[in-house]
Amino acid sequence: MTTKPIIAIDGPAAAGKGTLARRLASRLGLPYLDTGLLYRAVGRRVLDAGGDPSNADHAEAAARSLVPADLDRTDLRGPQADAAATAVAAIPGVRAALLDFQRDFAVRDGAVLDGRDIGTVIFPDAQAKLFVTASLAERARRRWLELRGKGLEAEIKTVEEDMRQRDAKDAARAAAPLKAALDAFLLDTSAMDADAAFLAALAFIRTRINMD
Ligand code: CDP
Repeated sequence: MTTKPIIAIDGPAAAGKGTLARRLASRLGLPYLDTGLLYRAVGRRVLDAGGDPSNADHAEAAARSLVPADLDRTDLRGPQADAAATAVAAIPGVRAALLDFQRDFAVRDGAVLDGRDIGTVIFPDAQAKLFVTASLAERARRRWLELRGKGLEAEIKTVEEDMRQRDAKDAARAAAPLKAALDAFLLDTSAMDADAAFLAALAFIRTRINMD
């Protein structure tokens, strides 16, 4: 049991979890882990080896051989990496292999972690849990802008459809499906900018932990 707080931020794709979690971590003086990167790095390793991300043997071998430097790779985003991450994430052996890394990350100094199952599976005793969401159209618009900002042209309808399918897979899988913990604070950011979401999240967290 750590004395430093653990803040769990879960929710569907492009809901603003990463931006929010990073800002909260900096405000609270806590380390930050984007757990999506773990699944993305496993998917990428499988693709590099010419394997199939939905094959349990391929994906589990990749998960077991993951090293922290994999999270710094620059090719973990984009449609192919998205699909590979979602495929490996449905495999129970992959999730089991990544569990200790996530728990160890937070055990000493506390942490803000964002993902799909932080408040439900990884840290069910987290001091504060948020489930961050937004409408599909708004999330697709944000991801489309993000891609464009990186010089990647994409049809907004294609981005929306890919995201809809990925969310559906994340929510339907048997292993640690995407869902809000019963004690999570629901934050719908459809009509909020990043500042408003940050302030709303902070106000909730103040009700759960002592802050300066
Ligand atoms: O950035 P985006 O929200 O699109 O995705 P991400 O958070 O980087 O996660 C990529 C994929 O990894 C998700 O679609 C999930 O399938 C999976 N994931 C998961 O299963 N559990 C987590 N804690 C984090 C990500």
